[in-house]
Amino acid sequence: ICRSLSSSAVRNVAIKHVTIIGSGQMGAGIAQVAASTGHSVTLVDTNDDVLKKAIKGIEGNLKRVVKKKFSDKPEAGEEFIQKALQNVSTSTDAASVVQGSDLVVEAIVENMKIKQDLFGGLDKLAPAHTIFASNTSSLSITDIASSTNRLDRFAGLHFFNPVPVMKLVEVIGTSATSQETLDSLLNFSKILGKTPVSCKDTPGFIVNRLLLPYLIEAVRMYERGHGSKEDIDIAMKLGCGYPMGPLELSDYVGLDTMKFIMDHWSAANPEDPSFAQSELLNKLVAEGKLGKKTGEGFYNGYQPKIILVQ
Ligand code: 3HC
Repeated sequence: ICRSLSSSAVRNVAIKHVTIIGSGQMGAGIAQVAASTGHSVTLVDTNDDVLKKAIKGIEGNLKRVVKKKFSDKPEAGEEFIQKALQNVSTSTDAASVVQGSDLVVEAIVENMKIKQDLFGGLDKLAPAHTIFASNTSSLSITDIASSTNRLDRFAGLHFFNPVPVMKLVEVIGTSATSQETLDSLLNFSKILGKTPVSCKDTPGFIVNRLLLPYLIEAVRMYERGHGSKEDIDIAMKLGCGYPMGPLELSDYVGLDTMKFIMDHWSAANPEDPSFAQSELLNKLVAEGKLGKKTGEGFYNGYQPKIILVQ
């Protein structure tokens, strides 16, 4: 045991250079946290305008962090922001930057074929030691990894929204992921200031497998008229001490994201009532009311975000 532990420690890859693919809320959040903790980060997306917006968002969120952390030291706070921003560069060409990466984290659209094509292409270009990780919330890591020849260096690394605030990271190993890879990712998560948990590659891992059935049941409860949306949310906030009620949190996560995950699971488990469809959720998504990002979901009056068609 001692021998395998020490050899794993030696081979544990120190992650310094990180490529993050996808500059949406999750990708930008991961970039922010990695850059703030001294990593050199390349944020990749399909065009420069999107990347510019992501950097602006990171700057805004860094200011929120600094306001609290450096409330009595504004100069040190400004230095922290500048240092973090200097650690982030952007690119529209993953193939050209992956060569220098210890870790590639993918946070793009939840589409198996697109993820497989991305990783399959990068696998031929990245150095042998580079670890590949997906931030998918619902797809199988094993299936994504199958497009590569680095099954032992492939894992899930699942962050939570808002990334700079939420303390958890799920580290998901497949049956082929090596212990060295898992150790590197657990260690990396700790350096980011997060608490990692180890998960199996099962649908929804730990958090979403428990969270989504709860959220969808709240939607069904509202649909059945068993409570107003405000009462359902207040009940769970004050009755269970949750920071957001389930309908508020559904808007925050994105109703399209929720529907995507539920559809995927219900197709795989048509008999399981916890994955049954909600007409109301389907209707809101069909109307483009996706929650906070479009300005309206169960609640309205959110500041809408620009939605990128991928
Ligand atoms: N960046 C940096 N800091 C941020 C931030 C961001 N994007 N968003 C909020 N903050 C900070 C604020 O500055 C504030 O800091 P302070 O308390 O130190 O002053 C703190 O977070 C609280 O923010 P606010 O005062 O603006 O608002 P709230 O007190 O209402 O908290 C919240 C907001 C942190 C989002 C809280 O409501 C919450 O924890 N909600 C639940 C979120 C959750 O469950 N996320 C998981 C979703 S599931 C998921 O992501 C998985 C996916 O796969 C589907």
